Amino acid sequence: MAEPVVQLKGLKKTIKGKQIIKGLDFEIYEGEVFGFLGPNGAGKTTTIRMMAGLISMTDGDVFIKGFSVRKDFKKAIRHVGGIVENPEMYPFMSGYKNLVHYSRMIPGISKERIIEVVKLVGLEKRMKEKVSKYSLGMRQRLGIAQALLHNPSVLVLDEPTNGLDPSGIREIRSYIRRLAEESGVAVIVSSHILSEMEMMCDRIGIIKNGELVSIQSVQEAVDEADQKEVNLEAVPIEEAEAILKKRDSQVKREKKELIFTAQKEEIPLIIQELTKHNIKIYSVAARRATLEDKFLDLIGDGAIE
Ligand SMILES: Nc1ncnc2c1ncn2[C@@H]1O[C@H](COP(=O)(O)OP(=O)(O)O)[C@@H](O)[C@H]1O
Ligand SMILES: [Mg+2]
Repeated sequence: MAEPVVQLKGLKKTIKGKQIIKGLDFEIYEGEVFGFLGPNGAGKTTTIRMMAGLISMTDGDVFIKGFSVRKDFKKAIRHVGGIVENPEMYPFMSGYKNLVHYSRMIPGISKERIIEVVKLVGLEKRMKEKVSKYSLGMRQRLGIAQALLHNPSVLVLDEPTNGLDPSGIREIRSYIRRLAEESGVAVIVSSHILSEMEMMCDRIGIIKNGELVSIQSVQEAVDEADQKEVNLEAVPIEEAEAILKKRDSQVKREKKELIFTAQKEEIPLIIQELTKHNIKIYSVAARRATLEDKFLDLIGDGAIE
């Protein structure tokens, strides 16, 4: 496999004596859209700010194209483009003028490069218009264009769809995908909304209380659709639970029922096993486990819109 563009190694952050990020390890590759999903307060912004070199790390490190953000800050951060705060734009200037203005702060940005990034985010037809005439989605795209000017290998976007209407969200989503595919940039995008992440990302890492609870390829999750969520009414329930837990510790108990996931083919085998132990089975219901069920299991209710 190719070298990762971004590598987090044991990344931790403590603020005012409270450990907010508890050791994150993961990698992001070229041309990939990596989603950082988690409920509010999970630690997404804190992590992203450390990755972008905006705040210090308490422990561990982030490597960008092999350069340590801690030890080789300049070389590492040169490859990062990001919108962490709302990008500053002058509303009375055109989109193009805003980019020209901004590019003066970065050495070596040509007019051609400005036009290239404008095209990448699909603003070529509107670049002469004042930013005050832009929709929120277009402003976000201009912000992305700005973050891309210095040709970064990784683009970091913290909740880029926040505050956008559905059409704005669709807009950003398609440009983010296109960007990763056409330019090979690795994109890290955070969100607390699963449905959005599923449509935009190749892989999703779920963060909860400063810890990564799962990394999942969106395609694999779709392929796993043969997975069933099973509701089982069995007596004695404690014994049934103990047997099921030997197979997979993720068994939930709700009133008289046990709830667990299994492949379709496993279900008859599980029932045989329970019957062998003289457990009485009163009902079995199996339905398709969606990606959403899985995420809900991992991060709990209320975290997903
Ligand atoms: N500067 C800070 N001082 C104190 N607590 C902070 C600070 N920054 C973040 N936190 C806390 O860290 C946790 C994670 O915050 P954050 O990274 O913003 O989460 P997210 O972006 O996932 O919503 C929250 O509990 C937040 O209150
Ligand atoms: Mg945040």
